[in-house]
Amino acid sequence: MKIITSTLLTIALANTLFASNGAALLKKNCATCHMLETPSPDIIPTLKAPAMEAVVFHIKLAIKDKVAMKDFIIDYVKNPQASKSVCESNKVEKFGVMPSLKGKISDKELHTVATYILEKYPSDEFVSMIKEIQTNDKMRALVNSPFLINQEGLPHITKILLQNWDKASLGLSDEQKNKLLVVRKKTLSAVKKIKQEVAALEEEIIEIVVDAEESKTLDEKIEKVAKLKAQATKIHINCISESVSILSDEQLEHLLPFWGS
Ligand code: HEC
Repeated sequence: MKIITSTLLTIALANTLFASNGAALLKKNCATCHMLETPSPDIIPTLKAPAMEAVVFHIKLAIKDKVAMKDFIIDYVKNPQASKSVCESNKVEKFGVMPSLKGKISDKELHTVATYILEKYPSDEFVSMIKEIQTNDKMRALVNSPFLINQEGLPHITKILLQNWDKASLGLSDEQKNKLLVVRKKTLSAVKKIKQEVAALEEEIIEIVVDAEESKTLDEKIEKVAKLKAQATKIHINCISESVSILSDEQLEHLLPFWGS
């Protein structure tokens, strides 16, 4: 009994030491760039590197098993490369690729840091904040969208593709990229035209309502807006099906986590 108790105590102590060691190593080697506390939404735009919460959030979203996550972190810190990044490409564009820490931290220390951050992050608080931001973004898109069925129901596939454009794990060939850009260009110019017409009509509708003018012209204009939105929705659906036909099953599967939830 005594032996078991002392063994358990030793394990508990080792775990605590290990954790505090992880915390200390993290602070020493990573905190100059990565914020270690949970960021508030207003702080996020001022950061010079993604918060550790966000880094681990994306790693867990993109990589399936724990061992592979650990390997990814250890490799990335030593050999960072834009094509390896699992965060959205705009992170790398915004911050520049992380400088390599090769020689500044040992493999053993890195292992401890990786284990520690995978345990600690992301916090429930951060996950619910991200969900709220995403919901707000979706609401904004819903309000601004010229589509009848929009982000709520259909993925914005060109945007998702651009966010993942140069990722080695997605592996878009030059031929695929060229084809996808043609689809994007065609879609954007068609939608832009409709968007302008919708905006003009909506303004007229508001004026009619505010000035309490006759309702017949109002009905006509509302119907016209609905028709334009239906047209834009068809263009959107075409864009999705054309883009999907250019991609392989594996590539689509890779993009799936980004299709909003
Ligand atoms: C000198 C600044 C700096 C230091 C120090 C630093 N990082 Fe980074 N890190 C960055 C920047 C900037 C990015 C975002 C760009 C990128 O992903 O390469 C980043 C991104 C990452 C990513 C995300 C990779 C992805 O998918 O894009 C991981 C993982 C990471 N850092 C881990 C660490 C760990 C662990 C440490 C400490 C051992 C550390 N970093 C120290 C600047 C730094």
